Amino acid sequence: MEMETGTKLQCPQPSRAPQDLSEAIKEATKEVHTQAENTEFMRNFQKGQVTPEAFKLVMASLYHIYAALEEEIERSRDSPSFAPVYFPEELHRREALEQDMAFWYGPQWRLAVPCSPATSRYVQRLHEVGRAEPELLVAHAYTRYLGDLSGGQVLKKIAQKALGLPASGEGLAFFTFPGVPNATKFKQLYRARMNSLEMTPEVRHRVLAEAKAAFLLNIQLFEELQGLLTPKSQDQSPPQTLGLHHRASSQGQEPSLDEVPQGKAQLPSQSSGPLLPWVLTLLTFLVATVAMSLYAL
Ligand code: HEM
Repeated sequence: MEMETGTKLQCPQPSRAPQDLSEAIKEATKEVHTQAENTEFMRNFQKGQVTPEAFKLVMASLYHIYAALEEEIERSRDSPSFAPVYFPEELHRREALEQDMAFWYGPQWRLAVPCSPATSRYVQRLHEVGRAEPELLVAHAYTRYLGDLSGGQVLKKIAQKALGLPASGEGLAFFTFPGVPNATKFKQLYRARMNSLEMTPEVRHRVLAEAKAAFLLNIQLFEELQGLLTPKSQDQSPPQTLGLHHRASSQGQEPSLDEVPQGKAQLPSQSSGPLLPWVLTLLTFLVATVAMSLYAL
């Protein structure tokens, strides 16, 4: 191979993407993790500012999310794209959440547990992934289970204190992992299993993107719950009456999933509604005035 004299031989730059999937996913979600920690809902929670009402709402969402996640995981349990990270005994939360639902919503909890629009969007995405792109399921499992084994343990203690719950752990079964005596060691094992998954660079790229999307679904959920809990100046009704329990019974029409604001950046549009008739009246008046002036000429 010919070389220009004086040209320094450049070694190929090492790829900036970390080799292991566990490192790559952690790096890819670092920013959204910080974003999730800093949502108003989570900041309040960390300060111990969590009411039973807020806690019930978030637990209900988690019930729906884990029911969908674990349904899809079961579908993929034998697939090489998921089998190495299939840990039902250690991780699965559905049963624990059912106990928590009975604690918080009573024996008729199945009829009473609300499902908010952001929860429905999350559930919908989990089913889409499970059915159409199961190779991305690992991104959702990582986001939830490793989070629960990390920050989730801090949140458990905060909730216990703030809500005055018994040390026996009643109402907090979700946060307790009897099959994981050592969370740090288990997370190491989980990461090693993630790293053993064989995937093409293209799939890996989509897994990283899906993990970010999973965090964003959580962020949107926290933002939505915060909005439901913060009484608006016009709406003084208590949060219990926000119509989450029975979607059909809400007074106005429930917005479709696509119509629900995706984040704080979107402004409420109610104020623009009543303006339109006024603008039309004004325009009609102006046109009439101009026409009459022309006629008079
Ligand atoms: C108040 C909110 C939160 C706090 C205080 C918190 C705190 C933490 C801490 C201390 C770790 C351990 C970091 C390490 O081992 O290097 C961690 C890891 C993690 N958290 Fe959070 N977290 C919060 C919210 C969330 C949320 C909402 C999610 C996603 C739904 C999440 C997902 C994760 C994941 C997936 C990991 C594992 C990172 C890895 O080792 O690859 N966290 N979190």
